[in-house]
Amino acid sequence: MPSNLGIFEVILNCQPLKKLILLLTFTILFFAGYGQSCEVGGSLFSTFEDIQLLLDENNCGSCHAEGKSEANWNYDSYASFIKNGDCNQPIIIHGNASDSYLYSVISGTDKLCSESAPTHKLSETELDRIETWINQGAPEHCLPLYPEVKAIFDSNNCQSCHAQSNALWDYTTYQSILGLNSDNNCGETKTVAIGNASLSLLYDKINDDGQVECGEPMNGASSPLSALEIAKVRDWINGGATESAATLPVVLTSFESHETDMSVTLSWTTEIEIATDKFSIEHSTTGRGFEEIAEVKSTGTNGSSSSYSYRHDSPSFGENYYRLKMIDLDGSFNYSNIRLTRLEVETAEMSISPNPAMKSERLKVTWYPQKGQEQAYLNILDPNGKNLHRKIIFEGTNYVRLPALIEGIYYVLIEDYFGGFLLERVVIIN
Ligand code: HEC
Ligand code: HEC
Repeated sequence: MPSNLGIFEVILNCQPLKKLILLLTFTILFFAGYGQSCEVGGSLFSTFEDIQLLLDENNCGSCHAEGKSEANWNYDSYASFIKNGDCNQPIIIHGNASDSYLYSVISGTDKLCSESAPTHKLSETELDRIETWINQGAPEHCLPLYPEVKAIFDSNNCQSCHAQSNALWDYTTYQSILGLNSDNNCGETKTVAIGNASLSLLYDKINDDGQVECGEPMNGASSPLSALEIAKVRDWINGGATESAATLPVVLTSFESHETDMSVTLSWTTEIEIATDKFSIEHSTTGRGFEEIAEVKSTGTNGSSSSYSYRHDSPSFGENYYRLKMIDLDGSFNYSNIRLTRLEVETAEMSISPNPAMKSERLKVTWYPQKGQEQAYLNILDPNGKNLHRKIIFEGTNYVRLPALIEGIYYVLIEDYFGGFLLERVVIIN
């Protein structure tokens, strides 16, 4: 057999049964390798490696890799990925994609703090995958459930001091590992702050960074926890500290928004609802700073699937972002991915704030073009009509850093590519 046979040729040269088995294995490996490589309780999850692959496919590494000078943030490792970037905004908020800076960067809902940065928009499907991953806690590894965390501690002999029999914290039951059975010795710090490992005493005790909020570090004197085990406990907390597959958060099988006669209808379907209380519907016109507009009670009975819809009668012109906050009976919640519906306007509109603006401030320029237009030029003119600044803006919200101006009156002129324009006066103060 020549040595350079491709995988398909190898398959073709085998016995029929072997052929089938190989083909099946190959198909499974192929699909598992792409996208969501981790399975928890029958649902597929992404790991950090899947996200790295996705970013690589989009060539993000050409600017964001260790040693590239343009941008300091990189995703070579999980640690460098979650670090605050140059704009000093948390790149990830575990469990909350829409408030994560990464989301605003790749969805185009916020302009980067660096004016020289290129546009960073990803496709809807890729955005959806990254959102889902962040909403699931942005785990580095395959999301563990409580029994796996317990097994990690058992294998590191934590039970030699932390067993139910003594007065210390113990992890023998789900209630006790959360610290619900005892007050910890660390004041305000929660033993497990669900969804936030960095605020959790348990993670603080084991994370091996050489510091603890109070008391002694606990990374196992006789058998120290491995980096992977520490990361797993962190992922578990960030992912919602889930007890078992049966208590995994509600899974939406679909969530859509569409326009009907100047109102927006949202519809969603759940797969398995367990102890879901209600859905809070949240709205925003910028993709950030969501506010609740309504609540819908859950009608799902344990384990069944249900369909819901809600009509938003007073959406805004331009962009309307929606997300669902899915709240359980015990008050815990998780977010859905975001949906965007645009309402087209009859005539283009713009608004500028603040106005008057301070010299050092960024202007927020909101532009709603007529159908079919997405970009325009924004010009800042002095009272004599001299052009001081020109840049491309996009439909929706844009942030414009002012050129060095002295106090006075200026004009913002938006020129679209079809010759239409909008003009507004801005006052600049010291
Ligand atoms: C052509 C070069 C280039 C490419 C390609 C690129 N970026 Fe950027 N990116 C930049 C620059 C320049 C900045 C702004 C400088 C900075 O903030 O470090 C930036 C900023 C960022 C930030 C904010 C970082 C911070 O420091 O706050 C994130 C997150 C980011 N990019 C993600 C991505 C992702 C994800 C991709 C792939 C879809 C990508 N970038 C592709 C050049 C690029
Ligand atoms: C040799 C005994 C011993 C071992 C082994 C041990 N611990 Fe501890 N642990 C203690 C003592 C004593 C305290 C209370 C004093 C303190 O906080 O430093 C404590 C406190 C804690 C706390 C804070 C609890 C609270 O309510 O304040 C956590 C969380 C914890 N340990 C986790 C672990 C984990 C996880 C392991 C296994 C990797 C472990 N411990 C192994 C003795 C031990």
